[in-house]
Amino acid sequence: MSTSVENRGQFGSKIGFILSAAGSAVGLGNIWKFPGKAYNCGGGAFLIIYILMVVFIGTTVMLGEFVIGRKTQKNAIGAIRELNSKYTWVGGLGILTGFIILCYYCQVGGWTLKYIVGYITESSTIYADPMAYFTGNLLGADRFPVQGAIVYPIIFIFLTAFIISRGVSEGIEKMSKILMPLLFIVLIGLTIRSCTLPGASEGLYYMVHFDPSTINANAFLVALGQAFFSLSLGMGVMITYASYLSKDENLVANTGIVCFLDTMVALLAGFMIIPAVFATGIDPGIGGGFAFATLAGVFMSIPGGTIFGCLFYFLLFFAAVTSSTSILEGTVAFLVEEKGMDRKKTVVIVSIILAIIGFFYTMSQAHMDLKGIWISREGISHPIFGDFMEYLTDRLLLPLGALTTTIFAGWIWGTDNAIQEATSDGKYKFALAPVWAFLLKIVAPIAIAIIIIAGMFLGMS
Ligand code: PHE
Repeated sequence: MSTSVENRGQFGSKIGFILSAAGSAVGLGNIWKFPGKAYNCGGGAFLIIYILMVVFIGTTVMLGEFVIGRKTQKNAIGAIRELNSKYTWVGGLGILTGFIILCYYCQVGGWTLKYIVGYITESSTIYADPMAYFTGNLLGADRFPVQGAIVYPIIFIFLTAFIISRGVSEGIEKMSKILMPLLFIVLIGLTIRSCTLPGASEGLYYMVHFDPSTINANAFLVALGQAFFSLSLGMGVMITYASYLSKDENLVANTGIVCFLDTMVALLAGFMIIPAVFATGIDPGIGGGFAFATLAGVFMSIPGGTIFGCLFYFLLFFAAVTSSTSILEGTVAFLVEEKGMDRKKTVVIVSIILAIIGFFYTMSQAHMDLKGIWISREGISHPIFGDFMEYLTDRLLLPLGALTTTIFAGWIWGTDNAIQEATSDGKYKFALAPVWAFLLKIVAPIAIAIIIIAGMFLGMS
């Protein structure tokens, strides 16, 4: 998608925008990250906290980003600058956050490619010992993850960069129309299978059982960071996407649809993976193995499972690419439009940096159990470089990005302007407008601020 001001396109259809925004939102965050967080934070109660975060804060921030983008018809930084040039840094913060996320996102995106190839060429090796396949084959038997940190992530970065440099968003939009619904259908099918595996009921119970003792500040913090990550908020991506919309679009309805779809996919993924964890006894620990090692137990148990395995990782890869391109576009558009750099050159340079920093992410995953190889913190038995990147983005930078966006929209630009834009100058009135204004101005900033501060005292977990 081109973000140049002179030659700005618009989404051809309503469904095109919803799919693109949902395409950015639905990604590895839903399928790879969410189940692990739900598992670590206590299951049922976490799901409720997560849903509350999406309904009250996620939707509020998303609509806030949408109105800023559509009003100005500009990329994140340009948009904020146009509304008030003193706050341009708010957009800059988002770009930085996106870049850090992208470093590890492309690594895990690469893992999906490895698994597509794995299910095609050596499914029996995966089935024989899914965890060994994950750690040995992907992360490297000798702890040097050639495939997981170099070969496949570089292919993934190349594909993302290729799409961005070509601007083939046309093609992505068209493919999304087919592949996103297909992802949904496959997820439903696999979830049903996973929940009916022998031994899965314990996992199902874990996911629906409300245990009040698991409700704590940490769960709120994890849920909030995850909600922002999953909904692609706090880094200006949704500002940029909405900048391509016309006044005919109902932003409030679009917000509801995108948040609903994204949350459905996350919940489905949770109910697909956690019961399988219990049924198969494969516990991938704190590491990144949730969407990889565990699912082998499901594929193994269905007829044609290997084909489903390929299809699933292909769809996961596609979901990841529609997200990674949305983040890379932010970084590249910034360097090209604000710093006057050449687009193709920028894409190449950014990609090389991504590959280098990302390498250390997977490397630190491969050395999870070794203390002291990477900077390690007392009491936590794994090296923290990879965790640190996620910690920094999910617990600090994304909430901070969302906080500054809500303060900007609610106080600096003002809720009257925001409501005027949200209703398309009165065309689509919504009864909850005063509620949204209150959430945007008061509730969301206070809640986010409390959670960020609490998180600083909680440390890392
Ligand atoms: N929302 C995406 C996911 O869940 C990741 C993402 C974060 C994309 C921030 C854009 C911006 O995978």
